[in-house]
Amino acid sequence: MLSAVERKIEQFVSDLNDKEVSGLYTKLPHGKRLRAKLILKIAGSSLSVVKTAAIVEMIHAASLLHDDVIDDAYTRRNKPSINALYGNKTAIMLGDILYSKGFLELNNISPEVAKIVSNAVVQLSLGELKDVSLSKAFNLDKEIYLEMIYQKTASLIEASAGAAAVLAGKPKDAYLTYGRNLGLAFQMIDDILDITSDSATLGKPALHDFVEGKTTLPYIYLYEVLDEVGKAKLRSLHTKVLNMQEQAWILSQMKEHKIIEKSYLEAKALIDEAIMLMDAQGEEALSGIAKEMIERDF
Ligand code: IPE
Ligand code: IPE
Ligand code: MG
Ligand code: MG
Ligand code: MG
Repeated sequence: MLSAVERKIEQFVSDLNDKEVSGLYTKLPHGKRLRAKLILKIAGSSLSVVKTAAIVEMIHAASLLHDDVIDDAYTRRNKPSINALYGNKTAIMLGDILYSKGFLELNNISPEVAKIVSNAVVQLSLGELKDVSLSKAFNLDKEIYLEMIYQKTASLIEASAGAAAVLAGKPKDAYLTYGRNLGLAFQMIDDILDITSDSATLGKPALHDFVEGKTTLPYIYLYEVLDEVGKAKLRSLHTKVLNMQEQAWILSQMKEHKIIEKSYLEAKALIDEAIMLMDAQGEEALSGIAKEMIERDF
């Protein structure tokens, strides 16, 4: 039923009755549609469910348009990003249009769903701000990192699951927790993949986070175990465009100290809890989505 969501997004975009926006939208490749999948798996495929999934995917696409401007990222979903193709201004404006059309359409769902989703977008935006502020400061505090990734990524996935549970008349709390854990693990894996994958596999630039100043979980763990010389070296590379040797040094230190394994286990613990919750609800498909996530390599 994902195709119904695609059609609904197309319809929402064509409602805007603007040729330029329709043209730009065709330049926007589809992603994995994780959030839409969750919503459909939880709540079926009635019209309001399909609309909610379409709204969430439009909001998510808007957040990525802005995110690529914020992160100076020129590749997205294996294609040149909108900011790379048309510049920052266009990316920001298209993001604004998708965000606001999404909010407008939320009014037609239900007040509770509208509240859950729009609150998540507040959190997402606060999280993006925090991500940028932390990147200026060489953050080494894991709790602060966790709070930031909850806001920027987990909040919308949590809201997707929670809103879908509301639409389906299912117990909201279990689904919110499932979505939250899934979202946290998802961002942790995204941060790990930034280090372990090449850009061709990722469909977006690799080893880019540290250049942008982002000390994600693996960097926090690595710093903890490095000696004074290593700590100083890692600090000196922060926000620098890394040459091959510097990249190789970071990767070898990660390997030597088994940092990726340690970070991965942290994501896995969250996924295991999410799976247990959904097994208890008899939601096999949702447990399946959680299992797939921990195995993804892009
Ligand atoms: C990318 O999200 C942004 C993060 C939260 C890491 P997705 O990986 O779900 O993006 P698409 O929609 O599949 O491209
Ligand atoms: C997630 O953060 C972005 C949003 C939730 C908007 P990232 O900046 O890590 O996402 P990618 O790696 O660019 O997809
Ligand atoms: Mg980014
Ligand atoms: Mg970002
Ligand atoms: Mg990332």
